[in-house]
Amino acid sequence: MRKLIYVSTLLLLLALPAVAQFPLFPTPAKEQLAKGSFLMGEGIQIQGNGGYADALAQKLKEELKAINKPAQTATGTIRIELRKELGMADESYQLTVTPEQIHLQASSESGLFYAKEALLQLARFGKGNVRACRIQDQPRYQWRGFMLDESRHFFGKEAVKQYLDIMASLRLNVFHWHLTDEPGWRIEIKRYPKLTTEGAVGNWHDPKAPAAYYTQEDIKEIVAYAAERHIMVVPEFDMPGHATAVCRSYPEISGGGEGKWLHFTFHPCKEETFEFISNVLDEIVALFPSPYIHIGGDEVHYGNQSWFTDPEIQQFIKDKGLGNEVGLEHYFVRRAADLVASKGKIMIGWDEIVDAGVSPEKAVVMWWRHDRKHQLVKALENGYRVIMTPRRPLYGDFVQYGTHKVGRQWGGYCPIEDIYRFPEPIIHLAKGYEDQIMGLQLSLWTERVADKKRLDFMTFPRLAAVAESAWTPAKSKECSLFMQKLPFFLQYLDTQGIYYFNPFAPASTPEPDAPDKEDVLKNG
Ligand code: ACM
Repeated sequence: MRKLIYVSTLLLLLALPAVAQFPLFPTPAKEQLAKGSFLMGEGIQIQGNGGYADALAQKLKEELKAINKPAQTATGTIRIELRKELGMADESYQLTVTPEQIHLQASSESGLFYAKEALLQLARFGKGNVRACRIQDQPRYQWRGFMLDESRHFFGKEAVKQYLDIMASLRLNVFHWHLTDEPGWRIEIKRYPKLTTEGAVGNWHDPKAPAAYYTQEDIKEIVAYAAERHIMVVPEFDMPGHATAVCRSYPEISGGGEGKWLHFTFHPCKEETFEFISNVLDEIVALFPSPYIHIGGDEVHYGNQSWFTDPEIQQFIKDKGLGNEVGLEHYFVRRAADLVASKGKIMIGWDEIVDAGVSPEKAVVMWWRHDRKHQLVKALENGYRVIMTPRRPLYGDFVQYGTHKVGRQWGGYCPIEDIYRFPEPIIHLAKGYEDQIMGLQLSLWTERVADKKRLDFMTFPRLAAVAESAWTPAKSKECSLFMQKLPFFLQYLDTQGIYYFNPFAPASTPEPDAPDKEDVLKNG
């Protein structure tokens, strides 16, 4: 079957027009093809101009060894130059390829790294030849992200590292790590051991699944691995709702609830709750150098039934003049923002936080409710910086093809083309506030993603479209050209052992089985 896919992919590649035969993902801001090509192989000189450039030269040598034909000899030179005086913006780079020389230039380490990643893509796809060209590139958005929910299902260090490698190749630079929620708490906190002995037990399908979590050493390893690839890791510690795994471990700070929603929220008015959060934040802040901590803030109304009946909570609402339970929720979010600020960090919250009255200096908004566009506009009007991840088209748990059955469909789904075309259909809403749009991300919730095969299938190749939406200027985007060159990316995924959805041959990559019947969902 793989052979068949390979042959049909090859036929597709041969049929491409010249313009799409330049298979960079994401498409650069400016690319010019030139005559001839640079031959890769043994004998090539690779030189840096010191420091980081030398380290990158060493890395490139090793990476090219794995790509190049072993027997081929060549005589060209690759120059890797990091120079502030070039005055290039952060993350931007220039890559010039002639038959004799390849020149990578940047004024920032991240820019130079992206030049190397671009060259690797060209070397990989050229199979020993790099087509002569000149690329001048810089990103459209500073936040180019991928969110992985490991509370619902846990995938582990090796999966995360593989995804960080692919993200780096796609110039994605933020890994938003959803580590806490209802089914499981996934990060070791030394001061509160029950978070992992009890809170890490279970997942979406099996409340008794053995405890699965990252130790602090694992977290440090992954944060360092990401940093080497110029990826910032932003942890999410969800509150005041989606706190079930915490509150069943430490019921003294639970906000009550019953049945399905037992322990869904933190207790919103006990000082012990805020002490607990502050202590946990201390350990989180020490592990993640990111200036941002995500505190969730979404869907509190799902499970705050006890707030309406608990006399202590009702009295608190009266005493503080909060008006009602929504006022109490906003009070909680303001306190969370203050706590995060007191640790020297900026809070990120889902778009519910726009209504909480947090100062825009202290918070960034993640817009997720695609059916509430006014919430995006309100966030911008109120001075917040915004990251866009509207469910449609940027939630990876929505299906990507009309016949797929496992995953969400809400009056539509999230095909790769819709992701690619984002944010153009809604970007007029940000007119006048363009500077406040930090960027966008694909967010992958994993209620219906129980194993790596389904994780791969839901993520790829859609992640390549996310990268292009986040990086490539609108005027250089063209969906039909992107789709024409996509087979090159699929070839790369084959080398990584990824089970992706092939939009050119849907029947050849069937949807992996649903873990159970309930997973086959429509409109829910
Ligand atoms: C969310 O999907 N509840 C942010």
